[in-house]
Amino acid sequence: MSRIAYVNGRYLPHRQAAIHVEDRGLQFADSVYEVCEVKDGRLVDEDRHMARLARSLSELRIASPRKPAALGTILREVIRRNRVANGIVYLQVTRGVAPRGHAFPTPAVPPGLVVTARSIDPAEGAARARAGIAVVTTPDNRWDRVDIKTVGLLPNVLAKQKAHESGAFEAWFVDENGFVTEGSSTNAWILTSDGILVTRPAEHGILRGITRGVVIEAAEAEGIAVEERPFSLSEALAAKEAFITASSTIVLPIVTVDGHRIGDGKAGPIATRLRELYHRHAQYGPCRATAVA
Ligand code: PDD
Repeated sequence: MSRIAYVNGRYLPHRQAAIHVEDRGLQFADSVYEVCEVKDGRLVDEDRHMARLARSLSELRIASPRKPAALGTILREVIRRNRVANGIVYLQVTRGVAPRGHAFPTPAVPPGLVVTARSIDPAEGAARARAGIAVVTTPDNRWDRVDIKTVGLLPNVLAKQKAHESGAFEAWFVDENGFVTEGSSTNAWILTSDGILVTRPAEHGILRGITRGVVIEAAEAEGIAVEERPFSLSEALAAKEAFITASSTIVLPIVTVDGHRIGDGKAGPIATRLRELYHRHAQYGPCRATAVA
């Protein structure tokens, strides 16, 4: 089955799905995106992703290509046409197409919209969660507006590549004061020796992850104390547990950071529990995409 992408109003097989050479997303990373989980054919946490997308667009003064409800319809249609039961759907909005010039085009041009989806075998994530993942650290060399979900991800790309070349799954960015900010495509968490979950506040220096917000709710409902404060790399190395969160991975326990064992070196029980609880607290879209065999 050929994969189908939505590009500026049309559903096209991938080999025909293309954007203009002067799209500002391509030329300047003048573009924002969202990645949503698809579980059992349903879109997860749609409203929260749409709210964050609206914020990213407004921070960059990019016009919204559609109302949130219409975007949701496109997301579900791409999920349906690609028969994705479990996986992710990706949405990107660019400032549009214009002759290359750094300032915003005048007059304004219509924003571009691309949506793709792909299946991910849930057994893969489950196995990774059982085994736990390795993380390496790298200096945080990003700009200070990482709260906006832009496609300007080169430092994140290089960090993830460093992780993979080191045999790790994720790279944690560490700021100049020795505090962990977040992962290259995930938020970062520790469980202290006295059982408090710690994750960096989302006002500054990190992306306000949708999964992060749901995990805070899930932890609080379980009676686990959560502190939103920066934590240092040395605090992480001494932690009982550590884990990452993102829409593409949900919760993944960490067993080593820079080769140092975290806790007893096994996937932690609290991280594992939060992974199990996640979908009780997540929101599901109103309608189920077409059933998938
Ligand atoms: N990444 N931090 C960064 C830098 C991210 O890129 C992401 C998501 C997160 C977690 O956000 P959320 O829980 O809303 O997925 C944190 C997506 C999955 C990606 O770029 O593929």
